[in-house]
Amino acid sequence: MVELLRAENLAVGYPMRTGFMEGLSGKEKGTLRALDGIDLSIGVGEIVALVGESGCGKTTTGKALLRLVDERYVRGSVRFDGVDVYGLSRSGLSGFRKTAQMIYQDPYQSLNPKDSVMEIVVEPLRVHGLSVGRDARSRAVSALEEAGLKPGGEYVDRYPHELSGGQRQRVAIASSLILEPRFIVADEPVSMLDLSVRAGIVRLLASLRDNRGLAFAFITHDLSLAWLLADRVVIMYLGKIVEEGPADEVISHPSHPYSIALVDVLPRIEPRAGRKRRLLSGEPPNPVCIPSGCRFKPRCRYATDLCSEKEPVLEAVDGAAPGHLAACHYRGSLPS
Ligand SMILES: Nc1ncnc2c1ncn2[C@@H]1O[C@H](COP(=O)(O)OP(=O)(O)OP(=O)(O)O)[C@@H](O)[C@H]1O
Ligand SMILES: [Mg+2]
Repeated sequence: MVELLRAENLAVGYPMRTGFMEGLSGKEKGTLRALDGIDLSIGVGEIVALVGESGCGKTTTGKALLRLVDERYVRGSVRFDGVDVYGLSRSGLSGFRKTAQMIYQDPYQSLNPKDSVMEIVVEPLRVHGLSVGRDARSRAVSALEEAGLKPGGEYVDRYPHELSGGQRQRVAIASSLILEPRFIVADEPVSMLDLSVRAGIVRLLASLRDNRGLAFAFITHDLSLAWLLADRVVIMYLGKIVEEGPADEVISHPSHPYSIALVDVLPRIEPRAGRKRRLLSGEPPNPVCIPSGCRFKPRCRYATDLCSEKEPVLEAVDGAAPGHLAACHYRGSLPS
């Protein structure tokens, strides 16, 4: 697969300020390691799902890939088509913004309620100083139809309040398609939508990958959705990647105890005989104070002294499919 994007040792640390006075004086109290050094590669036309519980750093990853985080807090590198994203000039960055975009979770907030659907869909052209031309309406109609709102002519003159949540998300997608991007970070794009509407949006993203060769970082806390849509699944825990691999492989043979727990709570039509679900215990730890050794240790039923002494790194799981990696000393030998 041709590589489109590569992040190396990407980290985001937000300075912590406590009191009001410290805020004024600019004094910092520690760093919140929202993203703690990840390597990630996404191929042309590949859908990679970023999965993990709230606060593990999914949105921060998506934003850091797109250079949407305050650059003072970012370390490491992102290359897009071989070009250093953080070294781009002003004009280079503007080009990158057309090629690589973000779709947000909340289709109610992401659209300006005062703009018509046509204005919303063609707005990115204006923002990038591109000519909208006299054919704004027909461009909007075809983008809407590609996003599954057919016939597009029935939607262009409406306003966001005249649309359902699913339709709004499709308008947001149409608006990002108008610049012909090659990569989209979709940050929980369906989590606010009804189950029946979700499937339609997920199918739309898959068809954009198939027909346009679009690549996605698909952020979700729902592993079953990741499995449905993604080519590859990346499981994050407390700012790190703890497991990654082909979607089928990670779901059928999870190798990190955190992924095992996530897979365990997936609904199954036929529960396996004698199988007990192992729920994750405890709250996710605080990214201001990351445990030494393995960061998952405080919640891990299999932890040993080795896990306190040595932080495991992502390594191939023995006997697994190529590209299946886990950051656990006992990867491949735990009961999944
Ligand atoms: N601008 C910011 N300043 C300080 N801390 C931040 C900022 N943005 C995020 N964080 C912190 O970084 C950590 C990761 O946040 P992030 O939004 O990436 O999590 P997430 O995995 O997307 O969670 P969710 O599933 O709830 O959306 C959290 O502890 C969060 O509080
Ligand atoms: Mg998020």
